[in-house]
Amino acid sequence: MDYDIPINIAGLDLKNPVIVASGMLGLSQSIFNRLYKIGAGAIVSKSISLLPREGYRNPTIVSVGNMSYINAVGLANPGAESFSTEISKNNGPLLVSLVGSEKSDFSSIVKLFRDHKILGFELNLSCPHVEKMGMEIGDDLNLVYDIIQSIKKETTKPLFVKVGLGKSDIVEVANVAESAGADGITAINTLRAMKIDIETQCPVLENKIGGLSGSAIKPLGIRCVYELSKSLKIPIIGCGGIMTYSDVVEYMMAGASAIQIGSLIGLKGICSVGKIVRSLRSYLEAGNISDIREIIGIAHR
Ligand SMILES: Cc1cc2nc3c(=O)[nH]c(=O)nc-3n(C[C@H](O)[C@H](O)[C@H](O)COP(=O)(O)O)c2cc1C
Repeated sequence: MDYDIPINIAGLDLKNPVIVASGMLGLSQSIFNRLYKIGAGAIVSKSISLLPREGYRNPTIVSVGNMSYINAVGLANPGAESFSTEISKNNGPLLVSLVGSEKSDFSSIVKLFRDHKILGFELNLSCPHVEKMGMEIGDDLNLVYDIIQSIKKETTKPLFVKVGLGKSDIVEVANVAESAGADGITAINTLRAMKIDIETQCPVLENKIGGLSGSAIKPLGIRCVYELSKSLKIPIIGCGGIMTYSDVVEYMMAGASAIQIGSLIGLKGICSVGKIVRSLRSYLEAGNISDIREIIGIAHR
């Protein structure tokens, strides 16, 4: 099967612009290998913290209809050391997602992956439901700047910074990230949301509040990518609510150089990655578009 829609982003040559978003799958090398085979342009790992995190108790995810979910997994992960052993033989296009609660966490994690065969890193500054991690860090602009600089000191690999809709303006956070040396921006993460069961009269999720993903957030993601691409020089990876190839095209027309898919994989399984790539190729062929870069940011004209 031919999954080639070549794209270069932040100096990385990807087979195609369809990337698996952080958090959607387990953290095993075998699942990554399957995804490389079925056409993923790249994969972002679940966010990895310095020490293992158990995460929240079940229920951690609930469907809210219209191909949308609210989750509060609590950044459960085995910790940096264990994950670095798991992927020590990785040979595919993997980005390791980083999460932490203080500056020193990030440089310590990056050191553990420095010599691995990975593409680079994605810094999660936008998880909306874990205290002192993710969004709370992303809202502190001085800390954002310092964290990015401390990561860049430890690695020459590209660093993408994942931003979301927190208290600070997303364009302002992304500009700070760019000035601190980020190589690209991923937008957006999930948005704070909640579901209450009217029978039990209780919030459905154990953590009560979680992050909304899926179709419901696509128009917000498109708006953010559009505004970010007006203001930034570094490339943008669009994320949020992508269910079909036409959503990919919309994000790229808004200014994204690549995209990530998350909830769709939960909904339709990992084969949906290859299906999106194939439909995207058919769309480009039908429109005589020989280079996908022709559509990037076209909506700004
Ligand atoms: C169950 C679940 C777990 C997630 N875990 C992470 C995570 O660990 N790190 C992160 O940066 N984003 C995480 N996300 C957010 C996704 O990477 C993505 O930004 C978001 O779901 C929007 O994309 P989508 O609408 O295609 O799902 C998670 C999302 C879901 C649904």
